[in-house]
Amino acid sequence: MRWFISLALLLIGFGATCPALAAPEVKLPAPLAQLQAPPAERVELGRMLFFDRRLSGDGTMSCAVCHDPQRAYGDGRALSGAYPTTRHWRHTQSLINVAYLHTFLWDGRSESLEQQAEGPIHSSFEMNLHLDFMVEKLRETPGYPELFRQAYDSEITRASIASALADFQRSLIVRDSPFDLYLKGNPDALSNAARSGMALFYGKANCHRCHSGSLLSDQKFHNTGVGETEELRKDTQRRAARHFFQVQMGLERSDRDPGRYAVTHNPEDLGAFRTPPLRQVADTAPYMHNGSIATLEAVIAFYNRGGGEDPDKSRLLQPLELTAEEKADLLAFLTSLSGTVPVVGPPVLP
Ligand code: HEC
Ligand code: HEC
Repeated sequence: MRWFISLALLLIGFGATCPALAAPEVKLPAPLAQLQAPPAERVELGRMLFFDRRLSGDGTMSCAVCHDPQRAYGDGRALSGAYPTTRHWRHTQSLINVAYLHTFLWDGRSESLEQQAEGPIHSSFEMNLHLDFMVEKLRETPGYPELFRQAYDSEITRASIASALADFQRSLIVRDSPFDLYLKGNPDALSNAARSGMALFYGKANCHRCHSGSLLSDQKFHNTGVGETEELRKDTQRRAARHFFQVQMGLERSDRDPGRYAVTHNPEDLGAFRTPPLRQVADTAPYMHNGSIATLEAVIAFYNRGGGEDPDKSRLLQPLELTAEEKADLLAFLTSLSGTVPVVGPPVLP
């Protein structure tokens, strides 16, 4: 319940502005709200599960293999790592600030962190472990039953495992970037270049139309025209993984990422993806749902061209005609969105 209240306050905050801090035409969001911290013993238990490779079929994979704390909880690859003998077909998302999201994954097919947590564990190309077998394995691992009793006052269940993983991820918050300090009232927190870049982000470059609110994401779905990559078309294992996904979602096999269409089956959602939040974005290259854009400079060039080639792309994207200096300023602003990542190491496991 407390979570819902915090979230509601946050959403109200989304509409607020901070006129005193910026040029009159720039409407800035409210600072990111401070959320209620989850109970410490659940976060700690979740941290163990996050690093525990026994949560995978062959004991080689854990959440942390793909969501590496040293890489802002992403994996730094264009297309995600995968369960041995398989290959993945999407880019790993960073877990920074997932506590603020209410729709998860590139296509928003999951609606809570608890619901999402089971997905990778039983996925054939992520951790490949039967969820009921996972429960039995942990129940027979000396140490875990006691830790679950302390944190949940109950036996180990699928629900308590998902809850602990969710609460650990809720502790991965960044809200001390120069941009955050600026929003909280420190005008010197941003360099001149970053301030000019911010004015572009909220003005001429139109980024805030989708990267809106305190999180810099509207949590909605847009087609920006990011194209398919040769590797996804040609790699037979990646093709197999994507076709398997499409069939599971009740779709025809195709060599195109369906995006949000997989969830809604509405043709208007073909190729639409959830707007990513942008905290720590300088540390999470490469970019986009398929990792096809290597650097932030190239992302800026992409938007400067008016996005990709897709005829169905959002009308909010138009060529921007930015000067070299404006591109550099926008880059300085994107870089100012990085703060202190809560890096945790592997705990001692039961
Ligand atoms: C094999 C690599 C891999 C492993 C292992 C893995 N993930 Fe992921 N994770 C991904 C990829 C790829 C995506 C994006 C998938 C998509 O959108 O279809 C993702 C997305 C997510 C998201 C959504 C973030 C957002 O912004 O919406 C969460 C939350 C998440 N993973 C948590 C976990 C947890 C918890 C575990 C362990 C139980 C885990 N992941 C294990 C690769 C992995
Ligand atoms: C029409 C809505 C929209 C507008 C306008 C927009 N974006 Fe995006 N942005 C998105 C979506 C959706 C994605 C993910 C697309 C994908 O993965 O295919 C994205 C991805 C990104 C990424 C990559 C993040 C990551 O983690 O991979 C960056 C950086 C970015 N946008 C910055 C900007 C900047 C800077 C501007 C202004 C020049 C801008 N965006 C304008 C919707 C938008």
